[in-house]
Amino acid sequence: MSGERGPAGEKADRLDKILSNMGIGTRAEVKRLIRAGDVTCGGAVVKDPETKFAPNQTVICVAGRTLRYQEHIYLMMNKPEGYVSATHDAVKRTVSELLPERCRVFEPFPVGRLDIDTTGLLLLTDDGELAHRLLSPKHHVEKEYEAELDRMPDENVVEAFAQGLRLEGFLCKPARLLLPGAPDTPKIPGDMSALSGDVSGIPTSPGDASALSGGIPAIPGGVPDVSGDVSALSGSTAPPFVVRVILTEGKFHQIKRMFARFDIRVLRLRRIRMHSLLLDPALAPGESRELSPAELTALSAAR
Ligand code: URA
Repeated sequence: MSGERGPAGEKADRLDKILSNMGIGTRAEVKRLIRAGDVTCGGAVVKDPETKFAPNQTVICVAGRTLRYQEHIYLMMNKPEGYVSATHDAVKRTVSELLPERCRVFEPFPVGRLDIDTTGLLLLTDDGELAHRLLSPKHHVEKEYEAELDRMPDENVVEAFAQGLRLEGFLCKPARLLLPGAPDTPKIPGDMSALSGDVSGIPTSPGDASALSGGIPAIPGGVPDVSGDVSALSGSTAPPFVVRVILTEGKFHQIKRMFARFDIRVLRLRRIRMHSLLLDPALAPGESRELSPAELTALSAAR
């Protein structure tokens, strides 16, 4: 929610904007409510929708019900194929179009981009400060992907990823390539594994057999819509070969280009983690939900 600063430095917004951002109704609907005298601010009826208030310092009631003010929105989406990670596009469908109107009033934007054919975890927010922190290269925030490949990479590829691959135009930061059944790989800066002792920081559930296969950790509850559990594919001799890649940056088509250096084609790519935030297996492609307070607290610790 954007807004001006009031005399005490607090953010002030138009009453109609505050109410529509809180999901009370469209701008037109809340204007009608305000003009009808159904809205009080600090106990007094306010009939001008353009009157400005600092919503986190004003008790606002609609039809006698006190509202809880929410400054920002934080959404996790399971991005489907065929949508661009943008708020507007002249030609293609955007992830913003998948959000319910109640969320769109906040004007959230995607935190980083996934390719049109990449699926999985996409964070959307209107909190520019957090978005900057998660994307800034100096914070080394990990993004973990599951990739289906046409060929299984060997240890030379693992080593080249870990060293930092040179692509046309830039030198990649060290990345981790986790092969099924492979031993643990060395840490790279900003590594989450320090938090749990796990290879990627993702806690494994006690009964999860993939935790035993080594190398690739399990996502709690499993990640939906995959072509099978990674551990089940270890030793697989036919494509697709499923691996995981952990990056701390996000250059254009980076993973596809990194594998292309070794003549390996990425058949499908899905993001499953950003920092501490795991893709919720309950979200069907195209669905989104607000982050829980615990998820937001953990994510906000990224630095
Ligand atoms: N790397 C890619 O190649 N594509 C993505 O969408 C994300 C990382």
